[in-house]
Amino acid sequence: MGFPEMRLSRMRGNEVFRGMVRENKVELSDLVQPIFVHHGENIKNEIKSMPGQFQYSVENACAYIQELYDLGLRAVLLFGIPKVKDEQGSDSWDDQGGIIQQALRAMKQACPGMMLITDVCFCEYTSHGHCGVMVDRGGEMVLDHDATLEKLALQAVSHAMAGADMVAPSGMIDGGIAAIRQALDMEDFNHIPIMAYSAKYASSFYGPFRDAADGAPKYGDRRTHQMDCANRAEAIREVELDVVEGADIVMVKPGLAYMDVINDVKATFGLPTAVYNVSGEYAMVKAAGAQGWIDAEAVTMEILLGFKRAGADIILTYHAEEVARDFGIK
Ligand code: PBG
Repeated sequence: MGFPEMRLSRMRGNEVFRGMVRENKVELSDLVQPIFVHHGENIKNEIKSMPGQFQYSVENACAYIQELYDLGLRAVLLFGIPKVKDEQGSDSWDDQGGIIQQALRAMKQACPGMMLITDVCFCEYTSHGHCGVMVDRGGEMVLDHDATLEKLALQAVSHAMAGADMVAPSGMIDGGIAAIRQALDMEDFNHIPIMAYSAKYASSFYGPFRDAADGAPKYGDRRTHQMDCANRAEAIREVELDVVEGADIVMVKPGLAYMDVINDVKATFGLPTAVYNVSGEYAMVKAAGAQGWIDAEAVTMEILLGFKRAGADIILTYHAEEVARDFGIK
């Protein structure tokens, strides 16, 4: 049957009809708000390239997550900005003094119902800004994946001990998921899931984040371990390895320019799939919105819905708070 008997516009005539046939929805339970926790006290620094996003000291971050909880959000992703960075990134596994460990303990007390997910990586903690242990290979400093594994495991266990509900390794370190899974299981944390940044691309969309987390590499870049933006089939191989190594949730990052990858990953594995709507994507919407060139609220919801349509179950997004506060979804 075709036109004129069939008219698809019939089911678009009013909001009730549109609602009945709507295929995808964004819900607050899909959203995770990233938060930057800064050492020190009484800090709430707005991040210039990410209007509406702040670096918070621990006590302010606690108040902030309570606000998010009251708005109906239930999960946050934590990044730490330590006082002291060193060659190894030792603050990241400092059980007592580590910035993330302090934040986790305080947050668990302040807002026990909030799910605390921690970004597990070294670039915010190392003096050189790279995601692990560096070695000299013929005069060039490169990331040593194997030497990073032990430290990665230490960091993840330390986060779990301090109260992390889930760990999210973001470094694209070969073998990283297995190393973390094994270490967590040995330390009685077999109930702590891993959200793996499985298909993470070497993207220019991370620009504003590197200001926010002070994690820009001091030399070189991350193209030797993060994925090449041109590759699609390789993402499946990356995800497959993480699944075999024990990932509970797999992630695609960034989002907007990688909708095909989200779709492939969900269709191939059928696993809980997350997408990271990264800092540069947020900054673009905010900048164009501030100029009055786009309706930022409508564009934001269209982007989030696009992620759902592509197959994402979970969306890590800096828009989470405003969506919960102002955009009228429950
Ligand atoms: C690494 C990490 C990065 C982001 C999340 N985790 C930066 C990078 O890989 O260079 C980027 C997130 C964003 O841009 O919003 N710890």
